[in-house]
Amino acid sequence: MDIAPFATEQFFSLYEFTTPHLLCASDCETISIGELLRLAGTDAQALLGLRLGYTESAGHPALRAAIAATYDGVTPQEVVVLGAPEEGIYLTMRTLLEPGDHVIVLTTAYDSLLNLAEHVSGNVSRWPIHPREGGWSLDLGELQRLMRDDTRLVVVNFPHNPTGYLPSTAEFEALIDIVRRHGAWLLCDEMYRGLERDPAARLPSATDRYERAIALSGLSKTYGLPGLRTGWLVIHDAAIRHSLINWKHYTTICAAAPSEQLAIVALGAREALAGRSRRIIADNLATAGQFFNRRPQMFDWRPPLAGSVALVGINVSSATDYCHALARDGGVLLLPGTCLGADDHSVRFGFGRASFPAALAAYEHYLDRVIES
Ligand SMILES: Cc1ncc(COP(=O)(O)O)c(C=O)c1O
Repeated sequence: MDIAPFATEQFFSLYEFTTPHLLCASDCETISIGELLRLAGTDAQALLGLRLGYTESAGHPALRAAIAATYDGVTPQEVVVLGAPEEGIYLTMRTLLEPGDHVIVLTTAYDSLLNLAEHVSGNVSRWPIHPREGGWSLDLGELQRLMRDDTRLVVVNFPHNPTGYLPSTAEFEALIDIVRRHGAWLLCDEMYRGLERDPAARLPSATDRYERAIALSGLSKTYGLPGLRTGWLVIHDAAIRHSLINWKHYTTICAAAPSEQLAIVALGAREALAGRSRRIIADNLATAGQFFNRRPQMFDWRPPLAGSVALVGINVSSATDYCHALARDGGVLLLPGTCLGADDHSVRFGFGRASFPAALAAYEHYLDRVIES
C-alpha cells in the first residue's frame, strides 16, 4: 500500500549528516548524557542498575506521573508514552479514523499530520494558515465553514511548524469551541510548547480545555533531546486510549527502557532545558533579524511568535532547486517550503542550534560569492 513521500525526512536524509552548516533544524541544541545527569543532579550510578527488559506498554509509571504533573488536569493513567513522538501521530490516525472519515488539517503541516490523515481516511480538508504583513493568521470563519456534522477529527499544531505561529489564548479557545460544537476529536501537536517568545503567551494544553482533545508532546524539540525518542500522548477517553495501545502493540509495544529512565531525569530538569533552548533561540533570532534586514530584496521575514522554526519567503525561481544547490555548492542546509506543503518560494529556517551564527555566516559568505561571480 502506498503513502505520500515523507518529503521533509527524505530531504534531510540526503543532506543532514553530510552538510556542514545546518540552518533549518527544528530541534534545539542537545546535550550529552553526562551533562544531562549533572544538570539534573542525578548520580550516573543510579542508572547503571537498570535492567534492560521490556517495559509497560503505556509507559513506566514514574514517567507517566512526571509527565502528568506538567499538565493542569491530567492523571498519569491518561498518559501514553510512545516509542517516539512521530509514533503518536500514526497511532492517533489509526485509532480514530476509518476510510472516508472527514478530517480537517491545519496546513502547511509537518508531513505526517497531513499525509497519515490522507492515507487512513482519504477525506481531508485543508485549513490553510495565511500570510499577513510581518506574520501569519488563522481564519476561524474558514474553519467553521469546513466543519461538517460528520467531521471526525481536526488536526492542529501550536506552536506551528513551519511558520512559528501561535494563536492567542482567546483564538485557541474559539477554535476549540468550534470543534466542540461538532463533537469532533482534536489532535493538538504541542511538540514546541514552552518555546514562546513571550512566556505569558503560552497556550494551555488542548487537553486541559477539551475532553476530546488528544495532545502530542515529547522531549525532541523544546528540551533538545531528540535522540531519546521520548514522546507521549494525553488522552482522557479510556476506550480510545485502550484501542490506541492495542495499535501500539503492532508498532513498538513499549518505549526503550534507557530512554524512559533518562526521560524521567530530563523532566526533573525540564525548566533548565527549556530555558536554555529559549535563550539560544532568542540570540539566534536577533542575529537572523539583522541578516534579513540586510537582504530585504532576497527574503520576506516573518518572525516566529513561538517554536524553533520560521517559514521565510525567498526571491528565487524555485526554492527546492535552490536548497539542493545550496547544500551541494555552499554546504548550507535550508529546507524547501514545498516539503511542508508551502509554495516553492519559501524556505524553513531553524533557530535552536548553537551553531546557527556560524552557519548563517557561511550562508552569507555563499550569498556574497554568488553575487560577486
Ligand atoms: C510538529 C511536529 N510533530 C511531530 C514531530 C515528530 O517528532 P520526532 O521526530 O521527535 O518523532 C515533529 C518533528 O519534526 C514535528 O515538527
